[in-house]
Amino acid sequence: MTTKNTHIATRAVQSGYEPKNAEPRVAGIIQSTTYKFDTAEQIADVFDLKDTAHIYSRISNPTVSQLEEKITALEGGTGALALASGHAAVSLAILNLCHAGHHFVAAKSLYGGTINLFSNTLKRYGITCTFIDQDAPLSELQKAIQDNTRLIFAESLTNPGMEVLDFEKFSQLAKHNKLPLLIDNTFPTPVLCQPFEHGANIIIHSTTKFIDGHATSVGGVIVDGGNFNWDNGKFPEFTTPDESYHGVRYAFDFKDFPFVVKARTQLLRDFGPCLSPFNAFLTYHGCQTLALRMERHSSNTLQLAQWLEKQKEVDWVRYPELKSSPYHALAKRYLPEGSSGVLAFGFKGGFEETKQVINRLKLAKLVVHVGDIRTSVVHPASMTHRQLSEDQLLDIKITPNLIRVSVGIEHIDDIIADFKQALFSEQEVISNEQ
Ligand SMILES: Cc1ncc(COP(=O)(O)O)c(C=O)c1O
Repeated sequence: MTTKNTHIATRAVQSGYEPKNAEPRVAGIIQSTTYKFDTAEQIADVFDLKDTAHIYSRISNPTVSQLEEKITALEGGTGALALASGHAAVSLAILNLCHAGHHFVAAKSLYGGTINLFSNTLKRYGITCTFIDQDAPLSELQKAIQDNTRLIFAESLTNPGMEVLDFEKFSQLAKHNKLPLLIDNTFPTPVLCQPFEHGANIIIHSTTKFIDGHATSVGGVIVDGGNFNWDNGKFPEFTTPDESYHGVRYAFDFKDFPFVVKARTQLLRDFGPCLSPFNAFLTYHGCQTLALRMERHSSNTLQLAQWLEKQKEVDWVRYPELKSSPYHALAKRYLPEGSSGVLAFGFKGGFEETKQVINRLKLAKLVVHVGDIRTSVVHPASMTHRQLSEDQLLDIKITPNLIRVSVGIEHIDDIIADFKQALFSEQEVISNEQ
């Protein structure tokens, strides 16, 4: 039996599914939309949330539940809700707290798609967001809080800036204002960072990345820390009866994990972005080897970062574990076992020359993704963040010469050899070899 105190590598392998005698050792896939009941009363109890049996796979499914239990155990949370994508998880987490007229505060250094969701799409539904510089002092951050502010959102390790969040400061801000702190923990994964231990109340993942790890399944998850007092006067939707669910009061009837129950019963039920059992099955298996992979991703990335720092063609390298990183101290504190598998570097050249470096890479594939076992690269200015204006890009430190590398688990010598041939022009490679 694994517990919250068991080492993360053990939890990754042992937690979640406990097969009974006649069941297969590995959790199977229940590829079914519906489940049979014996009596009308039984099914009525499930609709009333008195019984947690599976009723229909948009709301829950046994294979998806296994994944939810596994990730709950990894994060040390109280419950989880798996969803069709990381974006679905971010969207539903916000919508679980905000409706038209509400406001929230988010760190401005975020995945480009999240910035777009927060600054454009949610605005069309009357939900506004103030973006803050996560490195600003607490007194500055406090100015962003309004009477209608409902939550604070940040990434534990930002994509692609590789900035480490000052959890202590953000958790003080959240506590002082009686607001929940929502953390997107996609980049470090629970193996390298445990946000609930640092004041987070809700954790979100794009499981598509390192958790799946093999680029097979898009998915997302919301994890409840069960550690926020929803009965603080600011969140009546958690404390007053939900008429669409026979008067359930989430904060009291489901006090261990009210956030995910509310998200499941209201938002997953009505909007429907459920995870497929097959994707849940594959993602579950990704969890088993996650601890091992994160170790290798981190050590390979540090070695590549250190090598890149020494090259004259490279302007700068961003990786929190580097001594030169302004986030080194925060990384030591919040990511003591490694800073994950992504780095960013600036090539000494412009937009076009930088694209040429990417085109010359052979082992590293040009793939709009991170967290795969295979090394890949993107050029955010022309790809993932291309919908942002030049000013927005510079504001979040995405320069035209920035290359983001998701470092895989291949042998480090092969990875470095590939970057070596791509950085130098052909003539330079010949003269270097002489
Ligand atoms: C930090 C972070 N959060 C959320 C997302 C969205 O996840 P998905 O692509 O699974 O919808 C991404 C995608 O790259 C991401 O990097």
